[in-house]
Amino acid sequence: MTRWRRALVTGASSGIGAAITRQLASEGTALVIVARDTRRLDALAAELGGDIEVLTADLSTADGVTAVADRLTEVERPVDLLVNNAGFGFQGPYASLDYEAEQRVVDVNAGALHHLCHAAAGSMTDAGSGAILNVASVAAFIPSGSNATYAATKAFVTSFSESLHMDLSSVGVTVTASCPGFTRTEFAERAGFDASSVPKVFWQSAEAVARHALDATEKGKARAVPGALNKIGVFLFTHAPRILVRKAGSIDLDSD
Ligand SMILES: NC(=O)c1ccc[n+]([C@@H]2O[C@H](COP(=O)([O-])OP(=O)(O)OC[C@H]3O[C@@H](n4cnc5c(N)ncnc54)[C@H](OP(=O)(O)O)[C@@H]3O)[C@@H](O)[C@H]2O)c1
Repeated sequence: MTRWRRALVTGASSGIGAAITRQLASEGTALVIVARDTRRLDALAAELGGDIEVLTADLSTADGVTAVADRLTEVERPVDLLVNNAGFGFQGPYASLDYEAEQRVVDVNAGALHHLCHAAAGSMTDAGSGAILNVASVAAFIPSGSNATYAATKAFVTSFSESLHMDLSSVGVTVTASCPGFTRTEFAERAGFDASSVPKVFWQSAEAVARHALDATEKGKARAVPGALNKIGVFLFTHAPRILVRKAGSIDLDSD
């Protein structure tokens, strides 16, 4: 059963974005898949077959974001589901991290998402329907002593998504923030984070996270937290005294 006619998925070359792409393709949804690595995107498109456009774009650059925004406003082949999934972060004390790399975290996780939501909101408002799925994180709810920029960008994504959810509901457009916890993808390796420091019980598969996010989007939910442990975490981080939340956020999972 096709829930959307055409979806544009950023960060489709690996992890959660690739899992979302596979699930949508298996339902017969046409796709526009976006990332920097053309070779991986082409391989995914060839493997899945069907109506898949490959759009290579670096979302940390103005040209890359503009190319994707332009695709979202094309009237000939309209997109009725935007998935803002591309994202990354770096682990370590803020002053020790490369500033330009940290700036790219802000540009991709928050800046590109902000711009692409604007492009899609305009087209979808004109069409009178559509859905936006923004991939945030449990990190949105807990300040992180070793991941400050990443956590702040994800707090932006959840707040912005919830506001847009209210803003666009009257014109038939839904906005959903998915907030996964530890998910087995390339994220930890790219972040310079030792995944083995996190007990296995906390980890979910990219497929389970993708399924949960798409189902929540179909239902028009404002926010979706996959997995019981993540739900408990978000509840505690939201309701516990702030001093305790900061203590939890200062635990360095990566240390020996
Ligand atoms: N894995 C986790 O534990 C976890 C937990 C909570 C939230 N999340 C969120 O889930 C989302 C997906 O991450 P993942 O876990 O699936 O990690 P991943 O396997 O590393 O995938 C990240 C994707 O983002 C793309 N990307 C990175 N930089 C980009 C850029 N400058 N321009 C365009 N695309 C770019 C990558 O493609 P290219 O390298 O080909 O460009 C890749 O497709 C992220 O927003 C992440 O913050 C992950």
